[in-house]
Amino acid sequence: MKTVSIKASSSYEIKIGSRLFSTLGQEAAATVSGRNAVIVSDSNVFPLYGKKAEESLRNSGFHVFSFVFPAGESSKNGETYLRILNFLAQNQITRSDLLLALGGGVVGDLTGFAAATYLRGIAYIQLPTTVLAAVDSSVGGKTAIDLPAGKNLAGAFYQPRLVLCDTDTLSTLPAEIFRDGCAEIIKYAVLYDPGLFAHLAEKGLDFDRETVIARCVELKGNAVMQDEFDTGERMKLNLGHTLAHGIEHLSGFAVSHGRAVAMGMALISRAAAAAGFCPEETAREISRLIAMFGLPTETEYSACSLANAALSDKKRFGDVIRLILPRAIGNCIIYPLPVQQLHFFVEAGL
Ligand code: NAD
Ligand code: GLY
Repeated sequence: MKTVSIKASSSYEIKIGSRLFSTLGQEAAATVSGRNAVIVSDSNVFPLYGKKAEESLRNSGFHVFSFVFPAGESSKNGETYLRILNFLAQNQITRSDLLLALGGGVVGDLTGFAAATYLRGIAYIQLPTTVLAAVDSSVGGKTAIDLPAGKNLAGAFYQPRLVLCDTDTLSTLPAEIFRDGCAEIIKYAVLYDPGLFAHLAEKGLDFDRETVIARCVELKGNAVMQDEFDTGERMKLNLGHTLAHGIEHLSGFAVSHGRAVAMGMALISRAAAAAGFCPEETAREISRLIAMFGLPTETEYSACSLANAALSDKKRFGDVIRLILPRAIGNCIIYPLPVQQLHFFVEAGL
């Protein structure tokens, strides 16, 4: 097992390793004084791991309630959020009790937002079961739901009390979803760590899960500790994401987030190389690694549609859009580009 410590507005540990769910009850009992625990999960994950989590919590003296909603991004909305809050109120959950987010990023974001707002904030533990949730969404306290006008438009910064990442759960992930999460792992390597990049290039999908997840969590943790509220260093975690959000949007969300991030990273790296920010070979290396993970490096969309879609993203600041550009593997910068230049910048990366 590996442990990473986060010291932000609150401090907590992220534990990563095999068979960790068997320790859940003890960990939860050490986290809160109340003895009601509410597991929030989705219709795919709960049948796989719900009973085990319930049993471990009961063995440590918890009265356990479970709330399960239909799997998928379409559940990450105001309706499910209010159903969770009502479920908590109906079961007289108090501020000394505990929520547990058992699942991927959808479960984590919804549960975190419910925890941030129910009774003005109750404790929650993240139990990530996708690669994306393990290396990204369970760490750093961004919680959100989608609104009809767009993704993640309502949310809060609210840190969990603990993250328990049981790497055994990743074995039941469909291959496509596993691969999708790997786009975020590649992102950390390009942003911060040539050694991680080399490990991934050597091992491909057979990378050492515990070590790599722990390293990504450490790298994300460093960004969060420097900039919890996302006004500086944390923005770098959006490498490839501005274009990715455009691609997801243009495809009507038929292109998955991970695949869109992969395309976005490849494209922005080629554009950065064309504009002289990094050598052409750096962009080629990034594309080679993405392709090695079975992820795409090209998009069918035009520079014009990509730029327009990207400019409706919430990362735009007035007349400037902040792009994350590689200068080398492990070294990226935040570059403010005037919005009218985005189309030409993107075109060079197509
Ligand atoms: P997800 O939660 O929808 O999970 C993907 C699919 O895998 C779902 O069908 C789920 O039921 C299934 N699944 C999960 N774990 C499984 C397992 N172990 N075995 C079998 N099936 C399993 O999607 P995701 O990719 O984990 O997360 C995407 C969400 O995360 C998006 O809503 C995105 O906005 C959010 N996100 C949040 C942050 C943040 O910082 N809060 C960061 C990145 C992404
Ligand atoms: N997913 C980016 C962040 O947490 O800031």
